[in-house]
Amino acid sequence: MMIYADNAATTKMSRAAIEAMTACLEEEYGNPSSLYALGQRAKERLEQARGEIAAVIGADPGEITITSGGSEADNQALRTGAALGKRAGKTHIISTAFEHHAILHTLKRLEEEGFSVTLLPVHEDGLVRVEELEAAIREDTCLVSVMYANNEIGTIQPIREIGAVCRKHGVLFHTDAVQAVGHVPIDVKEQNIDMLSSSAHKFHGPKGIGFLYARKGVRLVNLIEGGAQEGGKRAGTENVAAAVSMAAATSSGRTSPSSWTGSRVTEKPSSSSFFRVWRMAWCSKAVEMRWVFPFFLPARAALRRAWLSASLPPEVMMISRGSALMTEAISPLAFSRVSLASWPRA
Ligand SMILES: Cc1ncc(COP(=O)(O)O)c(C=O)c1O
Repeated sequence: MMIYADNAATTKMSRAAIEAMTACLEEEYGNPSSLYALGQRAKERLEQARGEIAAVIGADPGEITITSGGSEADNQALRTGAALGKRAGKTHIISTAFEHHAILHTLKRLEEEGFSVTLLPVHEDGLVRVEELEAAIREDTCLVSVMYANNEIGTIQPIREIGAVCRKHGVLFHTDAVQAVGHVPIDVKEQNIDMLSSSAHKFHGPKGIGFLYARKGVRLVNLIEGGAQEGGKRAGTENVAAAVSMAAATSSGRTSPSSWTGSRVTEKPSSSSFFRVWRMAWCSKAVEMRWVFPFFLPARAALRRAWLSASLPPEVMMISRGSALMTEAISPLAFSRVSLASWPRA
């Protein structure tokens, strides 16, 4: 027997995503840049996929750039915000302490290149405070990047409010929505989002494919120079089959608020200070993703791993046994995480 409970790390591909991918690999092997029929058919499939992906987050197809996944999308978003800022003489970026390394490491690089970075703290309830974010905005702030849903503890940040504050101050707003797309309803226009990153393997699509939404008017900087694919925003022959598969995975998800069952709001915070970290994960009033269950063992990494391995053999029970992000950002005592399948589907 094998129990897979680490869906925040990656998900099993849905049947629809596998079928869409294999059909495309077999039939549509043309290069979408080729002008003859086979190439143009591949191009059509790609554009259809782009439209389906855009619809999931309320974007226009032209605002979607297909990338190799979440890390690339995060890198491109931050580099875009930084480059546009620099052109306007602004070199300050705001983010949070519990972002994914795709964000944190890129910010480190940008710091080395002369940008200054403010990392907002994450509070006991696993959330950043909008007031603190607004107070951190300076004259020279060019970009705010706050993750949508956390991959370790599942908290969902107040994205619309953060976006509104950024709009008010004329600052670009990016969100790393790698753990959110396909799981919670997103409307980039209504939520004031300028750029958004996503990755297909987190919502039952294939690995190595994702997308970056950039609002019309936000001119992305290239990370990969070369041909004019993706509207000149990302060079390289497109992975049509993976993009089509990603679209198949998104379009079979639960994306409308009425079908949104993946969140919960817990109303009774614990008052005991002993359970401070536990409470942050389980009992905050924050909206959390129901399928990410962080749990806390009061032990340092080695002991925790030994306990877990003894009680839940790793060959049988596939769970995340430690949390790199949380140890750095919030607590010296690490979490483990069980993340169940979000929407099992045919
Ligand atoms: C929040 C978050 N951002 C970015 C990434 C990176 O995505 P990818 O693996 O597609 O590069 C991940 C993957 O774990 C993630 O959880």
